[in-house]
Amino acid sequence: MSTPPPAFSSRFEPRYVEDPYPLYARLRQEAPVQFSEELHLWVVSRYEDVKTVLLNPGDFLSANAFRNPVPPAPEVLEALAEGYPQVPALVDDDPPNHTRMRVIVTKALAHHRVSAMEPRVRAIASELVDAFAREGRADLVEGLAFPLPARVIGAILGLPDSDLERLKAWTEDLVTLSAGNAPVPRQVECARGLVAIQKYLAGHISERRRAPKDDLISALIEARHEDTPPLSDVELISLLSMLHFAGHETTANLLGNLLVMLLREPERLEALRQDTRLIPSAIEEALRFDAPVQGMMRTTRSAVTLGGVALPEGARLLILYASANRDGAAFHAPDQADPRRPDVGRHLGFGLGIHYCIGAPLARMEVRIALELLLERLPGLRLAPGSPVLYLPNFLHRGPRRLLVEWDPA
Ligand code: HEM
Repeated sequence: MSTPPPAFSSRFEPRYVEDPYPLYARLRQEAPVQFSEELHLWVVSRYEDVKTVLLNPGDFLSANAFRNPVPPAPEVLEALAEGYPQVPALVDDDPPNHTRMRVIVTKALAHHRVSAMEPRVRAIASELVDAFAREGRADLVEGLAFPLPARVIGAILGLPDSDLERLKAWTEDLVTLSAGNAPVPRQVECARGLVAIQKYLAGHISERRRAPKDDLISALIEARHEDTPPLSDVELISLLSMLHFAGHETTANLLGNLLVMLLREPERLEALRQDTRLIPSAIEEALRFDAPVQGMMRTTRSAVTLGGVALPEGARLLILYASANRDGAAFHAPDQADPRRPDVGRHLGFGLGIHYCIGAPLARMEVRIALELLLERLPGLRLAPGSPVLYLPNFLHRGPRRLLVEWDPA
């Protein structure tokens, strides 16, 4: 007798936290559109189905994408009530308001052209690598993967470096709150973190309204889309906390996942050291092989059939980019990391369609510079023996929390 397909909720079992891909493979094979009773979500795991959802935003809405699948406890709601209302901001919004905000953010970000940021990003990355290059041993998550994107997005938004530590703590609170599976007292703490970041951003917005600066906050206050109204304070707060989060956690996870992918196959790392022109392909392959954003939510506008399964109106979906990227129907030898595959870049790691990641060029540039520097400065880079790579139990975001490495100091 065959065993029933595993439930997606087993994603939090330690073996799947460490490596969710065997679970995704069974879901694709045995239950590609599976209803999770525990999470109240339909889990979509095949490439074609995920792509259908992404390319039909009129049928699959992004509104409420961050509403916890399981309603938060009253104590958590009480803590959140102390802050500003959370209004939709791009990723959890639909046209026409999504279009208005996307135009505004694209315009404001264009002002801080990614290519113009490159020398600044390189200077920040060099300073971070300098701090540990002589040691011969480091935690690359703590030393580089987290602080680099945090400082870069902070610089773009116009937030001072001296606030980085508390911003980091609040970001961790947001990640934990979004997973919705922490004990209630911890969730309350995280909700307070979210309120704190809202109040912090509100302070910066009112400062910029009084005295604009050459930063993204000021550009967002100024930018307009046709004759639609400018962004309100409440919209700005939601948007800025989303941008800060999106520009930070995800990029840190991409660098972490890329390094794990390469360090586990030292000959690949050596090939990159020999020919750094391969780095962009290795980054694309890491986005496919171990996607930092594993999935995102959608809601059906009306009853619809997906992958042969009838979904009711208002059904909530978790679309698994990370599983789609390992689908053998879409990629040859999907479980092998191969930066030289001919279709490198056809992954869904940055999404697809109207919500395609606005920060993709920035993320690619930061990670490329970080890897170039590590290859240049840390000869013989390898995983520290006996130090397992640890992951957070989160089904939306994936990246190492600690990555201990060694090298041969000069
Ligand atoms: C490696 C790093 C990153 C990854 C893996 C990533 C991933 C994604 C994904 C998968 C989406 C689509 C969400 C959906 O389908 O609903 C998205 C959207 C978005 N990302 Fe990124 N992102 C990264 C870095 C960044 C950075 C650095 C920024 C900002 C500076 C950023 C800003 C955004 C924004 C604003 C959206 C929403 C776009 C919209 O809804 O129209 N991301 N990202």
